[in-house]
Parts: sequence; structure tokens; C-alpha cells
Amino acid sequence: MHAEFPTNLIDVRERGTAGRATAVAHPNIALIKYWGKRDEHLVLPRVDSLSMTLNVFPTTTSVRLAPRSGSDMVTLNGRPAAGEALRRIVDFLDLVRERAGLAHRAVVDSENTVPTGAGLASSASGFAALAVAAAAAYGLDLDATALSGLARRGSGSASRSVFGGFAVWHAGPDAGSAEEADRSSYAEPVPVGDLDPALVVAVVDAGPKPVSSRAAMRRTVDTSPLYEPWAVSSQADLIEMRAALLAGDIEAVGEIAERNALGMHATMLAARPAVRYLSPATLTVLDSVLRLRQDGIPAYATMDAGPNVKVLCRRVDADRVAEAVCVAVPGGAVHIAEPGPGARLLHGDGR
Ligand code: ADP
Ligand code: DP6
Ligand code: CO
Repeated sequence: MHAEFPTNLIDVRERGTAGRATAVAHPNIALIKYWGKRDEHLVLPRVDSLSMTLNVFPTTTSVRLAPRSGSDMVTLNGRPAAGEALRRIVDFLDLVRERAGLAHRAVVDSENTVPTGAGLASSASGFAALAVAAAAAYGLDLDATALSGLARRGSGSASRSVFGGFAVWHAGPDAGSAEEADRSSYAEPVPVGDLDPALVVAVVDAGPKPVSSRAAMRRTVDTSPLYEPWAVSSQADLIEMRAALLAGDIEAVGEIAERNALGMHATMLAARPAVRYLSPATLTVLDSVLRLRQDGIPAYATMDAGPNVKVLCRRVDADRVAEAVCVAVPGGAVHIAEPGPGARLLHGDGR
């Protein structure tokens, strides 16, 4: 007869897992921004958001169970993780352990190829990769929707990096229990027409931001008189964005994305005290984008919680856009990204 174990003593081999897994995920850039939470603990957003997952800057994360260890051991970019970064990862592993009914600590190693904490979505690729690797290592059998909801608990934007291409993250209904709300907020792919887009990423400053996205959006919601109007207009932007994507209308997609991002920055500039991520170099790139449009090239900018600029354009125009941005900020680095894949497990042989 099969022995009955208390759940936290079940050996992972009982669940058909080797207790270790490696996953890869890419950052995503929002065209309709997530800014503001209605629940900090569950990471439930105030607004729906919509993004494109990139084919550049992968994060690779491995998770190995360490049954004899008394604590989690985590490296981030080759160094032991500490402080807030460690706390967020341990909290996330605690959630996975609770769901798996398995108390084992873990060894986690994560490498970003995107600058960390620079407004280039390292928390998105980071927690999407961690969600996929940790779920597999702890023997949780989750579909893509459940993985997206799980990744969300690490960093909201990570919910979207579970999927490739374009994805919408549903805020979910306000009413109901905490469990229902937790289950109802996840990302899913968005249908897109004939678009063939590129995102030219202008890295004007790869250094870490002075205020994390988490702290900045909290301050904005708490103190900015512009937050509520932006949240209302953002929901309208999302409806228009979905139609523009379906129609393959790059001009409309770009215009809506640019105004949505500038509106988000307006909300934080009006926070008390103000949060300002945009630098002189950011504005120089914005000027070059305006000039491209005057020259008849559809190019539109979006910025996240950092000074770096992502320019949406047609793939056929990407080299010309990259060139214009390079000239504008000679000290910066420019990358051409296209829609990329969703988060995935690597097999033992690296596939
Ligand atoms: P970003 O613009 O890079 O997403 P955030 O302020 O949202 O900046 O988040 C940065 C934080 O995300 C880091 O300080 C760290 O806590 C977390 N993070 C970044 N990369 C990873 C990773 N690979 N694995 C786990 N957590 C990560
Ligand atoms: C400006 O997902 O990094 O990039 O949920 O607190 O981890 P936490 O915040 P995060 O916020 C991203 C904000 C943004 C816009 C976006 O990606 O939608
Ligand atoms: Co982030």
C-alpha cells in the first residue's frame, strides 16, 4: 500500500520531477502601461496593460532543491543576492513552496542579459523565468495561464513575459474573494493583424534606477492628482490599441502607445515628491523620433521606469530608426528587437 506522507515531506521524486529546472524568458515592453496596484501583496493592478515580448535580452534562471539547506541560496548575475532583491525571490519561493506543499529550500542562479533595474524590464524576464523554473523544480503542473498568474506575484509585468509576441494582462474583477481575484488576473496572447513591427531600444543609461518601479507606482497612486484621470484614459487607450493591432495599423498603434507612456510619466511627475525618470538624453531621443516622423517614417517612443527609450517602427525602417537614434545619443547603445518567444523550460541538454 502507498504510504501517506504529510504533504511537506513528499519527496519530489514522487511527483516525477528531478527537483531542478532551468528556464529562459525575455523582457516585454508595454504599449499600454501597468502603473499602480490595487493590492500590493497579491500584485493586482489598477489597470489592464498590453505589451510586446522581445527577442533580445533573455534571462536564464535555474532552480535546484536543496533539502538539507536551512535557507535559500540565490545568485543574481553571478553575485549573491541581498536585501530587497533577495527578499522578493525568497517570498516568491515561499509562495511556490506553499502551493507545492513542499518545504525544501532552493539554490537559485539567475543571469540577466538586460541591464538590471534600468527600466528595461529585468523584473519581467526575471520573474517569468523564475516562475517557470521554480514551478518545474517543485513539481507544480501549471498551464500557461496559471504560470502567468504565478509570475505576476513576483513582478506584475512578468505575467506578460510568460507569453511571446503581444499579450494583454487582465486586471481582473474588483469584487469577490482574494482567491478569486488572484486567479482572475493573468495575461494572455492578443490577436494581431499584418504588422511586422520592430522596437528599437536606445540604452542611454544602463545604471539602476534611483526608485524601483514598485515604490514609484505606490507613491504615484497615493499622491498624484493625475493618476485617476490617466487610469481612466488608459482603459480607453487599451480598447483602441486592440483594434489598431488587429488592423495592423502601425501609425495608430504607435500614437496610442506614445500618448499612453507620456501620460504615465505625467502621473509620476505630479506625484509628491515627484518621480522623474526621463533625462536630457531621453528628450534628445524623443526629438529624433519627432524628426523621423517629420521625414515620413512612422516611429513612436515609449519609456518605462527609467530614462531608456524604445522606439516602435516597421521592421523595414528599423535600421534607419536605429541610425537616427545613434546619431542623437552617440554615447548610447542601440538594439533592434522584434517580437520574441514566451518563457520556456530548457531541457537538460540545453534545448
Ligand atoms: P526593471 O525596470 O529592470 O524591471 P524594477 O524596479 O521593476 O526594474 O525591478 C528591478 C528588480 O527586479 C531588481 O532589483 C530585482 O529585485 C528584480 N530582478 C531583476 N532581475 C531579476 C532576476 N533575474 N531574477 C529575480 N529578480 C530579478
Ligand atoms: C513602467 O512590473 O516592474 O514598466 O509589479 O512592482 O514588480 P512590480 O512592477 P513592474 O512595473 C512595470 C512598470 C512599467 C510599465 C509596464 O511594464 O507595464
Ligand atoms: Co520591472
